[in-house]
Amino acid sequence: MSSLAGKVALVTGASSGLGAAVARLFADRGAQVFGVARDETRLAEVFAEVPGGRFGTGDIATAQTCRSMVEDCVGAFGRLDILVNVAGTHRMRRTGDVTDEDWAHDLAVNLNGPFYLCRAALPHLLENGGNIVNVASIAGVEGQAYSAGYCAAKHGLVGLTRALAVEFTAERLRVNAVCPGGMLTPQVTGFTLPDGADPNLVMRVASPRGMSGPEEVAAVIAFLASDDASAVHGAVYLADNGKTAG
Ligand SMILES: NC(=O)c1ccc[n+]([C@@H]2O[C@H](COP(=O)([O-])OP(=O)(O)OC[C@H]3O[C@@H](n4cnc5c(N)ncnc54)[C@H](O)[C@@H]3O)[C@@H](O)[C@H]2O)c1
Repeated sequence: MSSLAGKVALVTGASSGLGAAVARLFADRGAQVFGVARDETRLAEVFAEVPGGRFGTGDIATAQTCRSMVEDCVGAFGRLDILVNVAGTHRMRRTGDVTDEDWAHDLAVNLNGPFYLCRAALPHLLENGGNIVNVASIAGVEGQAYSAGYCAAKHGLVGLTRALAVEFTAERLRVNAVCPGGMLTPQVTGFTLPDGADPNLVMRVASPRGMSGPEEVAAVIAFLASDDASAVHGAVYLADNGKTAG
């Protein structure tokens, strides 16, 4: 079991689904966790099960909020070793119905926010030999119907991961991405399909092996964030029950 003892981790999306599972697991493995999400009540509920954890609310679509979150984490724990960009949003729409605001929102939350957080965290991570795990999706490596903005942003997040991995190859920093397939979280249970959506197109995202629990994907993230993964840098790590295997 990969230890995270002595590490300080900033985890976004920590109020729900995968982010909450990551916060709990990281604390179990010995990390001090600073959680970020929008809903203070839900964050407080999750962090009742994250010993020693701290949290802050904010919208990661704003660069200043991301800078403040990193400063608050370092203010609370004195350092930052691991950034886990989990927060994301996915609303299905027919492409012709996507407004300028919808498109901007998809990119702001799923791509801009992770970039702002990476940029703000970099000096701390470089100082401590830390690492970044970006949660992309199989939508970052293949197309999904009714999801143009989400797919574009998640492909962008995979590209951001690889660009940072190359830029910092010779430095004390690892950067990896995880691409989950279907996970049973509020994001999925709350899906609404566009009117008249073709179910055959929607079901192309499914693996015959079914969906993962968020805890299963959190375990992959804990490994990548730990020193056990010291040789893993620039990886785009599929946790999709074989969905994209061919
Ligand atoms: N559930 C799936 O099937 C699935 C599959 C592949 C990838 N993913 C990705 O996994 C990640 C976690 O998703 P989940 O399934 O746990 O979803 P979720 O809806 O349960 O949780 C999303 C989290 O992101 C936070 N968030 C959303 N917008 C935010 C914003 N603007 N600012 C700050 N926080 C914000 C929410 O507060 C929440 O904590 C996302 O990046 C998602 O795209 C999910």
